[in-house]
Amino acid sequence: MESAEDQNGKWGVTNRADGFLLAIESSCDETAAAVIDRRLTVLSNVVSSQHELHRDFGGVVPEIASRAHVRRIIPAIDDALRAAGVALDQLSAVAVTTRPGLVGSLLVGLTAAKTLALSLEIPLVDVNHVEAHLFASRMSAGREVFPAIGLVVSGGHTLLYDCVSATDFHLLGSTIDDAAGEAFDKGAKLLGLGYPGGPAIQRAALSGDAGAVRFPRPLIDSPNLDFSFSGLKTALLYEINGSSHGRAVLRDLPHERVYDLAASYQEAIIDVLAAKCRRALVRTGRTALCVGGGVAANARLRERLKSVAAELPIELVLAEPALCTDNAAMAAMAWELIDRQLFAPLEIDVTPGLLRPKR
Ligand code: KG4
Ligand code: ZN
Repeated sequence: MESAEDQNGKWGVTNRADGFLLAIESSCDETAAAVIDRRLTVLSNVVSSQHELHRDFGGVVPEIASRAHVRRIIPAIDDALRAAGVALDQLSAVAVTTRPGLVGSLLVGLTAAKTLALSLEIPLVDVNHVEAHLFASRMSAGREVFPAIGLVVSGGHTLLYDCVSATDFHLLGSTIDDAAGEAFDKGAKLLGLGYPGGPAIQRAALSGDAGAVRFPRPLIDSPNLDFSFSGLKTALLYEINGSSHGRAVLRDLPHERVYDLAASYQEAIIDVLAAKCRRALVRTGRTALCVGGGVAANARLRERLKSVAAELPIELVLAEPALCTDNAAMAAMAWELIDRQLFAPLEIDVTPGLLRPKR
């Protein structure tokens, strides 16, 4: 397989280095394309969400997601270029998420990106989706934010990183079972609140009492930086079933009880996230915390992390809500990779896990 050096040698950095980057993201259930310039100005950010296709299932169905990406990817790219007022021949590079994610979904974006890179003779840059979630906080800040501790909280991942630079991330901890977003989605399903679960629980929690039910805080006192959320979901199920000896009685629960359960459940997830961030900051001595991923849009989490930041004190860098959930603009971290001449060979494949395949 061709090495990065060979590829760089073939293409050079690009003779349109100050032009525009087209970024493509299709790792899960959003088909997204964005155009970003070298100063990280987002000229367009098109996100075609598939929530309506997956709602009845209470979660993303991989086969449905990849089929929808196939139909939507070219319109999303066209829309992004048109909205940015940028023509294909003004592009300097194409960035694409290659990992982690659903293989069928990732393949659609990668195929589109490879086709454009090859036909336009511009570099292809592979982006790690969770690192891009962290880079979203740097874009929102509008200035350098690394080194920092990075928390990625999404539907598929709950990860704590030591971010040495925008391209050098060291994993400190991760979930041993469900991700935080998954806990929100499954909890909302149990409570009959709909999909996606995070925004639904946040809404319901506003009318509830977060102290009504004392849910467990899994691993909160363990010295490691790992997370576990699956037991929390089981605890919620027991609360819903109550004294019915295991038979679901959701329809019999008064609205107020549902709101209290939503608020208490949300608080338990957030308590653990806040405690682990605090521990990572204290342990490493880092003075900044960057947060990204869909769950980072949660208003209560943002509030709690602000308290942690004020108490330590450290600098808190939250991705703005529009850049928390999946989007292609955050793949602007490709500019950092371009600066370091880290391009992808055209043979690059997708991978469902976090690691880039060996070349
Ligand atoms: O980052 P993202 O869009 O996709 C993945 O990479 O997984 O994250 C989606 C997750 C879903 O689980 C969704 O319920 C959750 O983010 N989410 C929220 C909120 N908005 C989205 N969770 C809590 N509160 C929110 N406001
Ligand atoms: Zn994501």
